[in-house]
Amino acid sequence: MTDAKKLFIKTYGCQMNVYDSERMVESLAPANMGGEGYVVTDVIEDADMVLLNTCHIREKASEKLYSDLGRLRPLKNAKPDLKIGVAGCVAQAEGDEIKRRMPLVDLVVGPQAYHRLPDMLRGLSKTTDTDFPVEDKFDLLPQRRATRGPTAFLTVQEGCDKFCAFCVVPYTRGAEVSRPADRVLTEARGLVERGVRDITLLGQNVNAYRFGFARLVRDLAAIEGLQRIRYMTSHPNDMEDDLIAAHGDCAKLMPYLHLPVQSGSDRVLKAMNRKHTAAEYLALIGRFRAARPDILVTSDFIAGFPGETDADHQATLDLIRAVGYGMAYSFKYSPRPGTPAAERLEVPGAVADARLHEIQTLITAQQRATQDAMVGREVSVLYEKAGRMPGQMVGKSDHLHAVHVDDSQGKVGELVRVKISASSSNSLAGVRISL
Ligand code: 5AD
Ligand code: SF4
Repeated sequence: MTDAKKLFIKTYGCQMNVYDSERMVESLAPANMGGEGYVVTDVIEDADMVLLNTCHIREKASEKLYSDLGRLRPLKNAKPDLKIGVAGCVAQAEGDEIKRRMPLVDLVVGPQAYHRLPDMLRGLSKTTDTDFPVEDKFDLLPQRRATRGPTAFLTVQEGCDKFCAFCVVPYTRGAEVSRPADRVLTEARGLVERGVRDITLLGQNVNAYRFGFARLVRDLAAIEGLQRIRYMTSHPNDMEDDLIAAHGDCAKLMPYLHLPVQSGSDRVLKAMNRKHTAAEYLALIGRFRAARPDILVTSDFIAGFPGETDADHQATLDLIRAVGYGMAYSFKYSPRPGTPAAERLEVPGAVADARLHEIQTLITAQQRATQDAMVGREVSVLYEKAGRMPGQMVGKSDHLHAVHVDDSQGKVGELVRVKISASSSNSLAGVRISL
């Protein structure tokens, strides 16, 4: 296998792209393609193929693709046989336009067509594929998953039917599709057999899973050897009672909820087509906290949505104060071609920047307070790798905090109890408790 060709893959954007990149790597591996297959390299200069798995959610994300492609030109000139592929949501949105703008690109493949990559490379199918094929890519990808460490992502649902006024996802990922539960359970069992202990179920609207999301979580919890279950991203309007209940009675379901709200103003929520109010969102968080009082809540916010006034912005800050987030992502509104909001009058950039800054400052303080409050508590930590210091292990707590533990006996994949002794800007430190 020493002469296998080499693949450099760069992933932009969300966790689902991370998952898709892993699946592309598996499908291009020598085990699937024989002598024509690729092994992954971290050294771009050694690559026979460079694959960029792109994100289209905000303007900056797609600009990044074009600047990275420009920087690949000298490498392509030096190695004319180098293949350059663009995958993901920019590929979906722009298709052949990418090849016109950047003739060095050989392959363009959308998120629903990447199972056809091996055939593309063999010259058996078209080199721009942005179809939403009738076949299910998951059935055609290699079933044996390559794993790296004790954590893994598992896509259970893709696409979105919500059409928030700012968002490209319904156009790039397509309509909501759920994978049958038996396939998800089979993939999960395969991951656990290969050492995975912590699975994050992924979907643009994971709780809109058609075959009962809480049922799926409970069936996964029955897999012996699987210790932790997480999920993201959820929509407030698709929350089932049983999922909330599972947070109270299913020990493997982690106390962590990513529930984006985007804004705290009812007026803006309406203009965004979110179809819920701030009060309804707060009531929902209240129900999760009643089921699992220590649940850590995270969200996404957009600052400077078209038409947002200062009073709307204040309502967002009020909502953030009312919830008390453990973490949150916040973004400056970015108009996306083809979305309804892109037609509307924008808030001046400097105003949006100032609002974003205020949101981020408040959230950073809440994040730090949540983390600091863990000091003195006992938590479970799943070791993911050795730390930089000798005799140190690093892992994640139930609440997804990074924890450094002094433990010279520790092994990757072990789930241990730890007493937290200190909190620093991005992680906790603690001591293993011997049982
Ligand atoms: N501008 C800014 N942020 C956006 N998001 C989605 N679309 C846009 C946009 N046009 C953010 C939302 C979403 C997250 C994944 O990205 O907050 O929840
Ligand atoms: Fe985009 Fe809204 Fe769908 Fe989330 S729910 S993917 S923000 S359209």
